[in-house]
Amino acid sequence: MDLVGQSVELYGWVQIKREHGGVVFIDLRDRSGIVQLVFNETYNRDCFSLSSELKPEYVIRALGEVRRRENPNPNIPTGQIEIWVNEVTILNTSETPPIGVVKQEDVSEELRLRYRYIDLRREEMRNNIIMRHRVTQAVIRYLDAQGYLSIETPFLTKSTPEGARDFLVPSRLNRGKFYALPQSPQIFKQLLMVSGFERYFQIVKCFRDEDLRADRQPEFTQIDIEASFIDETDIYELIDGMFKAILEGCYGKSLETPVLRITYNQAMEQYGSDRPDLRIPYRLFNIGSLSVLKPGELILHGLNEGKLFYGLLLPFDDSMSRKVLDGYAAQAKEEGIDLFTWLKGASEKSGGAKEGKGQSSLSGPMVKLFQDGLDSHIELLLQSGSSEAAQITGRPFILLAALGEKRRVLSFLSRLRTEKGQAAAGQDELQFCWITDFPLFEWSDEEQKMVSVHHPFTSPKSEDLGGINNEPLNLKSRSYDFVLNGIELGGGSMRIHRREVQEQIFTLLGLSPEEVERKFGFLLEALQYGAPPHGGIAFGLDRILMLLQGKGSIRDVIPFPKTSSGLSPLSGAPDIISEAQLRDLGLDLRK
Ligand code: AMO
Repeated sequence: MDLVGQSVELYGWVQIKREHGGVVFIDLRDRSGIVQLVFNETYNRDCFSLSSELKPEYVIRALGEVRRRENPNPNIPTGQIEIWVNEVTILNTSETPPIGVVKQEDVSEELRLRYRYIDLRREEMRNNIIMRHRVTQAVIRYLDAQGYLSIETPFLTKSTPEGARDFLVPSRLNRGKFYALPQSPQIFKQLLMVSGFERYFQIVKCFRDEDLRADRQPEFTQIDIEASFIDETDIYELIDGMFKAILEGCYGKSLETPVLRITYNQAMEQYGSDRPDLRIPYRLFNIGSLSVLKPGELILHGLNEGKLFYGLLLPFDDSMSRKVLDGYAAQAKEEGIDLFTWLKGASEKSGGAKEGKGQSSLSGPMVKLFQDGLDSHIELLLQSGSSEAAQITGRPFILLAALGEKRRVLSFLSRLRTEKGQAAAGQDELQFCWITDFPLFEWSDEEQKMVSVHHPFTSPKSEDLGGINNEPLNLKSRSYDFVLNGIELGGGSMRIHRREVQEQIFTLLGLSPEEVERKFGFLLEALQYGAPPHGGIAFGLDRILMLLQGKGSIRDVIPFPKTSSGLSPLSGAPDIISEAQLRDLGLDLRK
C-alpha cells in the first residue's frame, strides 16, 4: 500500500488474462506471487493494443503506476492494489503449456515430472520448494549456533553399509574397479571425529539403490550430524532444539520439549511397531498375562512356547461387521498367526473396575477363553491407557486379539491399529517421539543371517565382550530413531570407538577377516589413533518437508525426483552409453 501513486517496473509470467471491453486485466506472476496489471484503453492506448498479443506463460516486462483497487481481493497479499501499465515489452513467448499452472485436473504424475519446470510454477509446488529452502536455512543457522561445522565428504567412495544396494561408478583410470556413491557419509563423519573436529554436520545427498516408495528416492538429502564427547541425552536435546527451531521459525508452530522418549521394547509392546503413529489413540495389550485366562490347551501351550497373545482395544462401530471380522481372521491365518479372536462389550461410564463382576455384557468367541471377571480386567486395561480411555469409556468397544509368533502378532495388530486408527488421527497434528535402545542385531530371513538393526558401527549398550559372544540377539544398542506421525524421520547412535569391539561386531556379523580388512580396514586403522567416544544422527530432509508440508510423497518436495521405477521422465535418465564410453571404461554388457 506504501507504493500507491508510485511507478514500478515488474518482470514475470502472464498467468491469467481477463478482457472487459476497454480494459484488460492480467495476473502477472513471479516467485513471490501474483499482482494485477491493468491495460486501460483510455489510460494508455498503445499498451492496451499490445495486450492483445499477451498469452498465458508469456514472459513480460511492465512499467506502470500503483493504484488502489476498486474491488480488492482479500485472498492474495497484493489484493489491495493494481498496476496501471504504461509500457510493456514481451521478453519471450510460450507455447500452450501441456499441464496447467493455475489448475491441474486429471494430470498424471508422469506428465508432471516430464514437464517439471512447468509443474514447479504452480503455487503449491513453488511453496514446497521455498519451504525446503527455509527449513534448510533454519537447520544450518541452528547447528552453526550450536558450534557445528559444515564439512563435505566424498561422493566417489567405497560402500557404506546402510542396508541398500550401492550405485556404482566405474573407474576409467583404474579399469575393473568401481567407486560406490555413498549411502550416507557414515564412515567419513566418524573419521572427522578421529580428526578432532568434534561437531560436524552436512546437508548432503545420499544414494541408495532400493525399491522405491512414497517416502524413498534413489537419491535423497540427509541432515547428517556427528559429535564427540557426548552421549544420547546430548543428541536428544540437540535435535529437540533443532525441530523447535524449524517449527517455530518456519511454520509458526510450537513444540513441547523434551520430545517423548519410548524404548524400543515399550513401543513394540504398546504399538507393535518401532515407528508408532502417536496420533492414533489406541494401544495393544498383553492379554496372555491376564489372570482370568482359562487354562485352555492352545493358548497356554502357545504362551509356554514363547508366543504372544495380544489384543487391540477399539471403539466399536458399524464398520466391524461379522464379514469384516471374518476377513481379519482369514488375513491372520494367511500370515501364519495361530488364532485370531475377538469380543465386544460396553465400558463403564465411571471407568472404575468392579471386583467380582460377571461378564454378561461381553460377547464374542473370545469370552469362552476367560473365567468370570474379565470385565474388570478390561476396565483396568482401559485405565492404564489414558487416551484410549478417553476414546472408549462409556461407549461400546471391541477387543481384537491374536495369538502366535511374536513378530507376526505385533505386525498384524500394528497394521490393524493403523488401519482402524487413521480416521481418529488428527490431520494437522504433529506427534513426535524418540524410540531408544534398539536391539543391536536382528535375524534376517532374507539373508539367513544376523544383521545390524542400524549399522555395524553402532555401539552395544555394554562393551562387555563376553556378553556379546553369549546371546547376540538379546543385546541392546545405544541407538535411537526420531519418529513423526508414524514415519521415521531420522536415526542414529553412539558409535564403537575401540578397534577390538568393532572387530568383534564384524565377526559376529559373519564377515571374514579378509573381508573386514578390504572393506573397513581404513576405519579400523583410524580407530587405533586416538578415536574419541562419539555419536550422531541423520535425518531425511525430504521426509521432514513431506510431513510438515502435509504431502503424501517426498516427490512433492523434491524439485526433480525420479518416478517409482527410478526414471526421470524429464531428462530420460538413466540412459544407454556409447560403445566408445564402454570401451574407455573397459566394460562389456552381459547379454
Ligand atoms: P538411516 O539409514 O536411518 O541412517 O538414514 C537416515 C534417514 O535418511 C532418510 N532416508 C531416506 N529418505 C529418502 N529416501 C531414501 N531412500 C532414504 N533412506 C533413508 C530417512 C532415515 O531416517 N548413517 C546413518 C545415520 C547415523 O547413524 O548417523 C543413516 O544413514 O529419513
